[in-house]
Amino acid sequence: MTDRPPYVPPTLVRHRSGLMNKMGVGPVVSSRSSVAGVNVEALVEAYGSPLFIYDEQIIRARYRALHNALVLRYPKVALAWSYKTCYLDAICRLYHQEGALAEVVSGMEYRKARRNGMTPGQIVYNGPHKDDQTLTEALLGGARVHLDHFDELARCERIAEQHGCRPAVSIRLNLETSTLPRWDRFGFNLDNGQARDAVRRLLAGGRLRLTGLHVHLGTFILDVRAFAEATRKVVAFANRLRSERGIVLDTLDLGGGLASRNRLRSQYLPSDQSVPSFAQYAEQLVDGLSALDYPANELPTLVLETGRALIDEAGSLVTTVVANKRLADGRRGMVVDAGVNTLFTAYWYQHQLVPTQPTSEPPEPTMVYGPLCMNIDVVGNNVMLPPMAVGQRMLVTPVGAYNLSQSMQFIELRPAVCLVRPDGTHTLIRRREVLDDLTRAEVIPPWLGGGR
Ligand SMILES: Cc1ncc(COP(=O)(O)O)c(C=O)c1O
Repeated sequence: MTDRPPYVPPTLVRHRSGLMNKMGVGPVVSSRSSVAGVNVEALVEAYGSPLFIYDEQIIRARYRALHNALVLRYPKVALAWSYKTCYLDAICRLYHQEGALAEVVSGMEYRKARRNGMTPGQIVYNGPHKDDQTLTEALLGGARVHLDHFDELARCERIAEQHGCRPAVSIRLNLETSTLPRWDRFGFNLDNGQARDAVRRLLAGGRLRLTGLHVHLGTFILDVRAFAEATRKVVAFANRLRSERGIVLDTLDLGGGLASRNRLRSQYLPSDQSVPSFAQYAEQLVDGLSALDYPANELPTLVLETGRALIDEAGSLVTTVVANKRLADGRRGMVVDAGVNTLFTAYWYQHQLVPTQPTSEPPEPTMVYGPLCMNIDVVGNNVMLPPMAVGQRMLVTPVGAYNLSQSMQFIELRPAVCLVRPDGTHTLIRRREVLDDLTRAEVIPPWLGGGR
């Protein structure tokens, strides 16, 4: 009898897909050397790397497309630019030029909107924390103040009493839909009767006038039916307020939440197959509004506070390769000069990363890391990229929403932002930060060498 060789357990080796398919064909990697017709290299020469680039034409076109999709279906529409999505003044002013109101969620944003030429009446004031000074200014000036909780309701009443006035307010609702996670931390719950109690409380106080309802369901909502479902609930509530209490509303604000043509990390299908069009969203929103029991001349204005779906595609980021390396498991790693400090949305989106120079070299799954000395600084996970030498650049898209307003002065300073105009000219709208921007607010005590 011969000895059997000892059992050797099999080794599992991870298959790296993407190099070649079963027909022996590798993936094609596209490249993109310009944004809005302007050469990326020329922009980097003018403003440095990394660099955010906004395309004015896309900003205006997306705004008009959403507005048109709505006015085609409902006669009274106003869009309020959601400041926190990107509150660079130049960007906000582009939207205001197009006719947008301002939707703000803090005193800082309220003041920004005022500086950008908005009257209080053109400001929608949301958020769970409204400071006394801004809230007073907003109530007295006629801003559209959306009440978030009972404490705020009582504060508004006190302000109204102190100033001997009866300001208009809206109440924010939250509600259950069949498909979306519930955002019940904002506003008053419609399903369990809390919203009805809020109205009762407001009417009993007699200090405030209820003129609107607001609901913001969530963000990046791919299921358009959720909008119809929510709108129907809000409309039923509005109808009851009118028939039972004689309250005639002038505004129904259905918030934001429309998805941009981006792709979540968890998303299987690419955005062009999964993100609904503005027409599809508008169809569902207005479908719900058709049940409004209001005479035609008294219909409330439909307000939308769309953020990411308007601006995301208008923004790109150019970043430069600073190093290449092999990871311990054999994968390629690449370090670039922009990380999650500037690209906060890389945490949940699979952004598109493409080289700015064409190449015929075969791509390979690549981990793209930012410049931070932090393990979590990953800009792209197993992105199919060709070899890229130090100094070569890539474009990250779409990144126009939330990145600038959520960017951090962490380890690195913030990059410059430029705007490309429809005529092909470009201009700086935020300069690259310098060290003084970081230290300006600091105070060095005298015993540490600071001034007296
Ligand atoms: C109250 C409110 N309105 C509007 C928006 C804009 O949302 P989005 O960017 O999803 O359109 C937000 C963002 O979360 C919000 O909190």
